[in-house]
Amino acid sequence: MEHQTLLELMKDMSLEEKVGQLIQVPAAMLGENGIITGPTGSIPMDDQTRGLIGSILGTVGAEKLIALQKEQMAMQPHHIPMLFMFDIINGHQTIFPIPLSQGCSFRPDLVEKAAHIAAKESAVSGLHVVFSPMLDLVRDPRWGRVMESPGEDPYLNSLMARAMVRGYQGKDLKEEGRVAACLKHFAGYGAPDGGREYDNVELSLRTLREDYLPSYAAAVDEGCRMAMSSFNTLDRIPSSGNKWLMRSVLRQEMGFNGVLISDYSAIEEMVNHGSAEDPRDAARQAMEASVDIDMCSVAYIGHLANLIREGSVEESLLDEAVLRVLTLKNDLGLFENPFKDADAVKEQALLLCDEHRRAAKDLAACSMVLLENDGILPLTPGKQKLALIGPHANNHGIYGSWSFPQDVTQIVTVRQGIERIQPNNVTCCTGSYMLAPNMCSRFGQFETIDPEQTEKWLVQALEDAKKADTVVICLGEDTYQSGEAGSRTVLQISPLQLKLLQKVHEVNENIVLVLFSGRPLETGELTNYCKALLWAGMPGTEGGNAIADLLFGICQPEGRLSMSFPHIATQAPLYYNHLPTGRPNLHGPQTTFCAGYIDESCYARYPFGYGLSYTRFDYSPVTLSADTMDPTGCINASVTVTNTGDHPGTETVQLYLRDIAGSVSRPVRMLKGFKKITLQPGQSQQVCFEIREDMLRFYDIHMNYTSEPGIFEVHIAANSALDHKAIFRLNQ
Ligand code: GLC
Repeated sequence: MEHQTLLELMKDMSLEEKVGQLIQVPAAMLGENGIITGPTGSIPMDDQTRGLIGSILGTVGAEKLIALQKEQMAMQPHHIPMLFMFDIINGHQTIFPIPLSQGCSFRPDLVEKAAHIAAKESAVSGLHVVFSPMLDLVRDPRWGRVMESPGEDPYLNSLMARAMVRGYQGKDLKEEGRVAACLKHFAGYGAPDGGREYDNVELSLRTLREDYLPSYAAAVDEGCRMAMSSFNTLDRIPSSGNKWLMRSVLRQEMGFNGVLISDYSAIEEMVNHGSAEDPRDAARQAMEASVDIDMCSVAYIGHLANLIREGSVEESLLDEAVLRVLTLKNDLGLFENPFKDADAVKEQALLLCDEHRRAAKDLAACSMVLLENDGILPLTPGKQKLALIGPHANNHGIYGSWSFPQDVTQIVTVRQGIERIQPNNVTCCTGSYMLAPNMCSRFGQFETIDPEQTEKWLVQALEDAKKADTVVICLGEDTYQSGEAGSRTVLQISPLQLKLLQKVHEVNENIVLVLFSGRPLETGELTNYCKALLWAGMPGTEGGNAIADLLFGICQPEGRLSMSFPHIATQAPLYYNHLPTGRPNLHGPQTTFCAGYIDESCYARYPFGYGLSYTRFDYSPVTLSADTMDPTGCINASVTVTNTGDHPGTETVQLYLRDIAGSVSRPVRMLKGFKKITLQPGQSQQVCFEIREDMLRFYDIHMNYTSEPGIFEVHIAANSALDHKAIFRLNQ
């Protein structure tokens, strides 16, 4: 539809009809079966209102959404189609690794491909918008939603943001296999006090701008069509009512002109925050902050029309919001084809097709991080008797808590993956419960622990371990121990799992530990009982196959951590790009008046960018094309990397800069580039990076985004904790 026609349509709409376009409810409230992803409060809705609803969330399926669209358009006075939205965070039915693991791939190309596949599957199942990418920078593994984020670095998160938006949206939303993306949660939701879900966020303006906003800005710059306001307060203002954050920063500074949707009931929750007297006041604040769609709260549906009638809210604010919603529908082509890609026959053929599975396996294999290996890996297929042990050894539940598989048996378990390569001489035993008597996964789900069953499993596990040459023990978090409302204070595997590991180690020390979790966990105790440790994250549909390929060396481990693993949870928040402090601690527990603790290192056990392969890489000294740089010039930095081991390997060569002195304190490292290279044993390759003035900019003492002359360190290394540098000066 032409834009002018859209404007004429809007002129012809009643006030109630316009408000209806800004209302979103879960499909379940329309009597459909669907996923409820928030508090199940009741929203008053008579038949007339129901016919005006502009969008729904939480249900999917071509046949169902075609029927829903037909029914709704028949009731809607101008037959305006609805938008169908859903949380497709790491894939629809072909499930990819959780975004935190995707960040560890350092493969934006594969992440873009995964998003495109997710878009194709979502669109054919009737969806128009996915609530992804989640781009909250994370530094605190106690927070359950770290699993949804690409990680702790602004540069890497920004690359992943762009890749996901491109993958979902392509260049034209009308294209088959494209959906609108929704960046979230704006802004700063990843830094709640204490890692406690939904809690307050205290960030200086400079930290907000330096570290937390870049990934959202990258998504906007890539053309992301929707943004979601976050639950948290920032500067004690709930985001959904934060006019400065939404109108000045998101829309004016970043240039976002898409649809801004609140998070689930977040507008009404301003009353709980104590920043709105009642839902009516909350509705007023949200409209003034330019929140277009009220997701599942009574604010807009109950009060917006009256606020307009009595002149408390300008109708022009309503019109601009409605026009943004209608424009998105128009850009998706819904006025010409309200069902877009929805097609039940194509859906059957496309979901989980072989091509999609292959992509899922490739990304899963690149996302896992080898944390320890004394040489026990890689295994040789058929050469050793294997005992698979643990609650994750044959568990389909390795898809992450924001995935909704219709058939979990489609998810390949570790056992299935290993037996595909080594069909014989493999035993498998659960070994222990996932949780422990006092542990719960989200929403208070506990396991009933039967002591007899525990004993039986242990006996079986020890028998299997005794007969095996090598034990592959698969432990970790339940898939629902992370995600929304999944904050934890203890970042350890359950005591029952630890006991299993210890007992197995007593009878067989040849242990490979595969660790599943939606967040960094404490691993110090675990490494006392294994010879290799592979962090699998939550790897999705092809997880078992990817793990087997890695363990047997069919593919090489190339994942590098996108989030620091602490020694202990109480170190959080923990991140590599920290400030030096006035008494820098070079490593280890505090000794004499330096930063850190007296009882633990103040650094990560496994730092950002860390990961092993099956070989070793040697780095030559860093060389620079010059030791000074004019602001208009550039410097080339390079190293020669050599594979000095006896396996092929893929290395992620990382470029970090450090600004030694600025008008404000500057981080000890900042990732500014990386390159992946694959080398055969004995092979060398020169890796070059161009350093330009724009890479040196930051928010100076006056909050101007600029570079300042001075000394810079250039580190080119295998991870963020290594000191492998050359130095140059930026001239005035
Ligand atoms: C949830 C989440 C958000 C999600 C939305 C819709 O509460 O915070 O990420 O997209 O509600 O399910």
